[in-house]
Amino acid sequence: MDFATRAVHAGLDPDPTYRSVIPAIHQTSTFAQPAVGEFVEDYDYARSANPTRTALERALGELDGGRAVAFSSGMAAAHAVITHVCAAGDHVVLPADLYGGTYRLVDKVLARWGLRYDLVDQTDLDALERAITDDTKLVWVETPTNPLLNVVDVPEVVARRRGALVAVDSTFATPVNQRPLELGADVVVHSTTKYLGGHSDVVGGAAIATDDALVEGLRFVQNAVGAVPAPLDAFLVHRGLRTLHLRMAAHAESARAVVELLNGTPGVSDVRWPGFSGMVSFRHPDAVGIAERTRLFTLAESLGGVESLIEVPQAMTHQSVEGSDAAVPADLVRLSCGVEAPADLVEDLRRAIP
Ligand SMILES: Cc1ncc(COP(=O)(O)O)c(C=O)c1O
Repeated sequence: MDFATRAVHAGLDPDPTYRSVIPAIHQTSTFAQPAVGEFVEDYDYARSANPTRTALERALGELDGGRAVAFSSGMAAAHAVITHVCAAGDHVVLPADLYGGTYRLVDKVLARWGLRYDLVDQTDLDALERAITDDTKLVWVETPTNPLLNVVDVPEVVARRRGALVAVDSTFATPVNQRPLELGADVVVHSTTKYLGGHSDVVGGAAIATDDALVEGLRFVQNAVGAVPAPLDAFLVHRGLRTLHLRMAAHAESARAVVELLNGTPGVSDVRWPGFSGMVSFRHPDAVGIAERTRLFTLAESLGGVESLIEVPQAMTHQSVEGSDAAVPADLVRLSCGVEAPADLVEDLRRAIP
């Protein structure tokens, strides 16, 4: 079936008790057992499993072509993938341009437990090949990258992996535009906080894989560490998925109009847009002033909601990479173009750019 049809129906079966079209939000911490050790399916305790979360996991798995494990944030999903795949002394290859929080997790938390890493520009495939050693257990890809919107060629990375697993943070692309498992990656990671939830009202994450042992390993960390999404949060992300294809088309239309304006505006340079999604970045000497002057584009971190947001990564989302090889320019502006009328977004930016 077409993606649009799958997005609307993924993970949804009528509730078995009352036939409600949308299954219930199982706001419970535990499940009554008729006898010791007897319970329905996996449902004995809600950190281990919850039907609302299961429905979301089924949906996410269907859309990315694997089995999904849901988490309380994108960072919790990243943490589960890295800690399941790697042990102390192992080596990870990270992109030299990535979400600051992923760098912080590896550099400030996991490095203390013996994880080693190198940052490499993954659009330079020779450099990538040189960075992957016999000790490399994981190649972490982010594409498009945050905030520079570089696109990495996933099959070319897979071809150079040696023995390492390839994980792709596909948050900016969503399964509408990119399904890394179909491109040979081992695991996909999403911050569902962004486009998948789509309404800036929930924080969540997911990891999706096809290999059963890998999925079971991720599920083990999900339960052992306990960074699970609350039932309402799982419900909200699942509801967001049902309009993902419509929203992504509208986000791209907004971005296209904004890019046209930016390309013709004096003082603006290095306009970047991967040609899909609503993420756009550009450079301007008055980056901070622009971000403070827009009205429709709200000055805020995060992205991927129906409303437009603007930020200055160096001062906001990417402070943790300051001083590292992954540092971002101070005059960079990042836009998350929402689904408002493109002409209104263009007018807002026209007024804000001096
Ligand atoms: C590309 C990318 N990956 C992961 C994350 C982390 O997700 P969360 O904020 O849901 O933990 C973010 C957050 O901005 C992101 O932009």
